[in-house]
Amino acid sequence: MRLKDVKVAILTISDKGSRGEREDTSGPEIRSIVEAEGAKVISYEIIPDEQYEIEERLVHLADFEDVDLILTTGGTGFSPRDITPEATLAVIERQAPGFVEAIRVESLKITPHAMLSRAVSGIRGQTIIVNLPGSPKAVRESLAVIMPALPHGIQILKGQTGECAKLSNLR
Ligand code: MTE
Repeated sequence: MRLKDVKVAILTISDKGSRGEREDTSGPEIRSIVEAEGAKVISYEIIPDEQYEIEERLVHLADFEDVDLILTTGGTGFSPRDITPEATLAVIERQAPGFVEAIRVESLKITPHAMLSRAVSGIRGQTIIVNLPGSPKAVRESLAVIMPALPHGIQILKGQTGECAKLSNLR
């Protein structure tokens, strides 16, 4: 399984979800997709669109919970409360734009609304952080795009392999 033993944290970012006014279906969607690939979901939280709170959770998960991959969902659009990309940019140490670039390129083949996601992706310590849009459909479409590259990215980040060229031919 491609994400075998990878530790994943899911962060749903939604004011209504955090108040219990809307059922979160995107977080559970992420969970079922990554678990089917062998990942261990060690944390799943729903938090409001508050920049400080998002930053605090990202830092905690990356620095103290030994998480390999944090997948956020929601808060990437144009609404005045959408602040997930700004919170993510505030805590990453290195940009890793390939994930969100690939998501937008492939998603634009499905819907022009893909241009409305301001999602970012990057690295803090040994943790990859990727913003996904908020709907379960967008989550499914986005994860399908990045899944093939994630295991190798995580391996390299953890210093488990330096043999990029050889591995990329293996598939
Ligand atoms: N990407 C994919 N693959 N599929 C989608 O349906 N929806 C878009 C976009 N990205 C979509 C997508 C829409 S409608 C919006 S408004 C933005 O993501 C931002 O979503 P968010 O504010 O819920 O994060």
